[in-house]
Amino acid sequence: MNTVPLAALDHIPPHLQTIADYQKQAQLHLNAATWANLEGAAGDEYSLNNNRTAFANIQLLPRHLNSFNDANTQIQLLGKHYPHPIFLAPVAYQQLFHTQGEIATAQAAAALKAPMILSHLSTTSMATLDQVSSAPKWFQLYWQGSREAALDLIFQAQHYAYQAIVLTVDAPHMGIRDRERRAYFQLPAHIQAVHHHPVSTATLKDNQHALFDGLMQQAATWEDIAWLVQRSPLPILLKGILHPADAQQAYQYGVQGIIVSNHGGRVLDTAVSPIQVLSTIRKILPHDFPILLDSGIRRGTDIFKALALGANAVLIGRPYIYGLAVAGALGAAHSIKLLKEEFEVSMALMGTSSIEQINNSYIYQK
Ligand SMILES: Cc1cc2nc3c(=O)[nH]c(=O)nc-3n(C[C@H](O)[C@H](O)[C@H](O)COP(=O)(O)O)c2cc1C
Repeated sequence: MNTVPLAALDHIPPHLQTIADYQKQAQLHLNAATWANLEGAAGDEYSLNNNRTAFANIQLLPRHLNSFNDANTQIQLLGKHYPHPIFLAPVAYQQLFHTQGEIATAQAAAALKAPMILSHLSTTSMATLDQVSSAPKWFQLYWQGSREAALDLIFQAQHYAYQAIVLTVDAPHMGIRDRERRAYFQLPAHIQAVHHHPVSTATLKDNQHALFDGLMQQAATWEDIAWLVQRSPLPILLKGILHPADAQQAYQYGVQGIIVSNHGGRVLDTAVSPIQVLSTIRKILPHDFPILLDSGIRRGTDIFKALALGANAVLIGRPYIYGLAVAGALGAAHSIKLLKEEFEVSMALMGTSSIEQINNSYIYQK
């Protein structure tokens, strides 16, 4: 298996010190349309921007003089042990950003021990990835209108030792991404989603609505979730939950975790930022029910804030893709390492020597 030479990460050019630096550099490596696909979000991009503002508006309340004997960033999630709480969010079509695509991401994930969530719209198959990386992996599923098709992919994921299934529920229809449309973004013919087999919609009658009677008839419902949870050999987490009532319902339907997310602002513009609803959701669910969060994580302090407000772990999306676009596996690994080290320094400066110690008393409340 190929791995990322970790020593090479000590010789990265000095202008790449933060995720924001990688963001700037990534734009130089991608054409305008691909950049619009990566960077853009829905509508006026209020949610995209608010994802950052919401983190910036949370202020930390550090404590001092705590002992750091045996300090660590380990977490336990769904019965597994992970050395730190940073997961790689599912990102579609990664060969758009680098010729090595998901292969490079999986190598970076293995080097930094960051679990990779492989997108349903991956340009690399589970079989190929199995040959190149030993990173722990989860598989993300979009509902395709067929229960059997969903279960079939779950069995494939189980075969390749994926540890969990992430069912993304916030995008039964793609977001209206104006920036992408203005840039005439289209998937190049050679970029294909190898695990995606869309079911064709029934022919509509004259009085039927193209969206509600068409695509939305194929969207998942809570009954489908119940059906899938009962049959899946792997734990199922729902991604894209924002409403506390949905979080509660997910728990009642036997789902094994949720990912509080607004899809990085890419689906419904002006949808609330996950960090703003996280503590409400945490309060209504059992303390040991896994909650992950993504959308807008760019700094180690953001990770700290998410954990303090109730997340067990976080996902990063664009940050590692910036690294991938700049320098393949090495760039992706470096961007993960930057966040991991910033998070460790945040823990040291906040006076918390383990993840269990991080709670909402470290957040300034007016
Ligand atoms: C280019 C791109 C493609 C994405 N593709 C998927 C996908 O296939 N499935 C999915 O559940 N989420 C997808 N997402 C959303 C991410 O999983 C994640 O929720 C989001 O990127 C987090 O926000 P951040 O980019 O601010 O970290 C995508 C995001 C981006 C930027």
